[in-house]
Amino acid sequence: MVRITSKLNTSRLSLRPLASEDFPSLIELLSDFEVSRALRQVPHPYTQQDAEDFLRITIEGREANALDDYAITRHHDGSFIGGIGLRYNDERTRADFGYWIARKHWGCGYATEAVRAVIDFAFSERARHKELEHVEAHVHVGNERSRRVLTKCGFTETAIETIDACGHDGNRQAHKYERWRA
Ligand SMILES: CC(C)(COP(=O)(O)OP(=O)(O)OC[C@H]1O[C@@H](n2cnc3c(N)ncnc32)[C@H](O)[C@@H]1OP(=O)(O)O)[C@@H](O)C(=O)NCCC(=O)NCCS
Repeated sequence: MVRITSKLNTSRLSLRPLASEDFPSLIELLSDFEVSRALRQVPHPYTQQDAEDFLRITIEGREANALDDYAITRHHDGSFIGGIGLRYNDERTRADFGYWIARKHWGCGYATEAVRAVIDFAFSERARHKELEHVEAHVHVGNERSRRVLTKCGFTETAIETIDACGHDGNRQAHKYERWRA
């Protein structure tokens, strides 16, 4: 059976599956290098083809139960303001985790609100992968906002590692953050 990503609601946000209607906003917001340079797999410039490839990968991953990816939208005006996603290992015991918010909305607590909702759900009885034990995220050295978000959401820094910044040139140093099922 194909199971789609659940829709999650927080006090200010609706987290729902990405759709092709989101492409104009997605391309505009991810064309901001201040956003994309912090993300491993988002190239710059960000094109229509990149958006189409991302949606295809998202749908395939969803259908394979290998990832949960959400568009972050606001209740009060319906606007698309960011993205957040978990990618599971084959055993569904671990997940990598990434997220972004459009720059004009930074500092409003949206990332914290979205991360809490997605991680709490992923470890809850309602989640589709009951065997999930562990979630991790990598934050490039210097990205203090993102470190703060993860700390506020119960993640612990466990290492500094060299990671492949696939969408950009070369390798980067990154803080590894982890959270385990309570
Ligand atoms: C990281 C990012 C998602 C944060 O989104 P956001 O909605 O602004 O985050 P929040 O408002 O929930 O929280 C930001 C926190 O960082 C703090 N902060 C802001 N600037 C800071 C700085 N220079 N140093 C330390 N903390 C800082 C804020 O005060 C806030 O903490 P507080 O609630 O304790 O005051 C957003 O900046 C972004 O999309 N960046 C580019 C992509 C990215 O980095 N993704 C994460 C990859 S791991």
